[in-house]
Amino acid sequence: MTMNFFNPVTTQTWTNGRHEVRCVKIIQETPDVRTFCFMAEEPVLFFFKPGQFVTLELEVEGEQIMRSYTISSSPSIPYSFSITVKQVPGGKVSNWLHANMSVGDKIAVHGPVGNFNSIDYPADKVLLLSGGVGITPLMSMTRWFFDTNANVDVEFIHSARAPRDVIYHRELVHMFSRIPEFKLHIVCEKKEDIGEAWAGYRGFLTQPMLELMAPDFLEREIFCCGPVPYMNAIKNILRENNYDMDHYHEELFGATPADVKEDALELAERAEEAAENVDEADLVTVEFADSGKSVQVQPGETVHSAAAQLGLHIPKACGMGICGTCRVGIRSGEVDMDHNGGITDEDIEEGYILSCCSRVKGDLVVDF
Ligand SMILES: Cc1cc2nc3c(=O)[nH]c(=O)nc-3n(C[C@H](O)[C@H](O)[C@H](O)COP(=O)(O)OP(=O)(O)OC[C@H]3O[C@@H](n4cnc5c(N)ncnc54)[C@H](O)[C@@H]3O)c2cc1C
Ligand code: FES
Repeated sequence: MTMNFFNPVTTQTWTNGRHEVRCVKIIQETPDVRTFCFMAEEPVLFFFKPGQFVTLELEVEGEQIMRSYTISSSPSIPYSFSITVKQVPGGKVSNWLHANMSVGDKIAVHGPVGNFNSIDYPADKVLLLSGGVGITPLMSMTRWFFDTNANVDVEFIHSARAPRDVIYHRELVHMFSRIPEFKLHIVCEKKEDIGEAWAGYRGFLTQPMLELMAPDFLEREIFCCGPVPYMNAIKNILRENNYDMDHYHEELFGATPADVKEDALELAERAEEAAENVDEADLVTVEFADSGKSVQVQPGETVHSAAAQLGLHIPKACGMGICGTCRVGIRSGEVDMDHNGGITDEDIEEGYILSCCSRVKGDLVVDF
């Protein structure tokens, strides 16, 4: 790779779209988590909102495949950006990245996009809650607050499996030791392994723990990212305490099949509650022909969430109509599709939709 000489005055800036980037550094964060750093061939300033994500376009075993990953670095260090990837057992792309992505490799990325970010929801006092690799957007926000000397009071509560699984541990301790308004709390689910002492919080995050760590949690803007059961537990605590949910923001990385079942239960309960307040005549039927299942939903529900209510897992990456991962065919009926370029006009003419951003208008029959 040729050496790039930076000129901070003339360097181009990054805008939403498709970009080719080269992997320039790989960091082993924990036993199953790696950070991959990327730069553009010609220097580009990677500006984005902390918390946003990119969608990688990869070729895995001859098949084009898209997956979204949060940018874990901060736009305050703009000549490169990084993503931090956890190996998911049986997962196609995360394991492929760990096994194959090397320094010097070139890939295409789409983005940056995402509503879960600290710029669109500015606040003086924030509570950042993360579980496992869900730390990535919150790390980007923290790095941004730290580097820009932002006048923000940060309570950061991170839950990990065990001490050795705490991603960015040393960097977090460093940042939080330097600014009195930054407070870090780490909770480890399991006891330490041999040789790993842990004197901190243990188990799952509970309301008494939360009250101890952030007694003023009801006054804070909350950003939460982690596994579905983790986020559900947090939301239950907040709702029970009459927290104003307009100030709660979450990012869902996409569900594993086990999470889909839990999600399906929650969605089904919500749908039931909603249905109680709705005239039966207003409900529409969404049928999934290949699976032989159907569900009644209110108009306006996305096709993806209608499928999830039935426990059907339509693959999803960006959730915003960018990547095309959630594309399905429709046999009859119409939807309101609000996509961001993830589907071609030809595909639409042939009867395909993006299920993440297509809202049901009337009775619908889907191929899936
Ligand atoms: C906005 C956004 C941001 C994200 N940011 C990050 C991030 O910062 N870091 C990160 O690590 N991830 C992130 N993700 C998640 C990431 O996109 C991938 O979903 C994740 O890496 C798993 O992808 P995979 O290809 O390895 O797994 P997949 O192949 O998609 O499999 C996922 C899971 O499903 C199981 N599975 C797959 N197929 C089947 C089947 N047929 N039957 C039973 N089980 C099956 C697998 O075993 C695995 O448990 C983000 C996702 C989104 C939407
Ligand atoms: S998940 Fe990316 S377009 Fe729907």
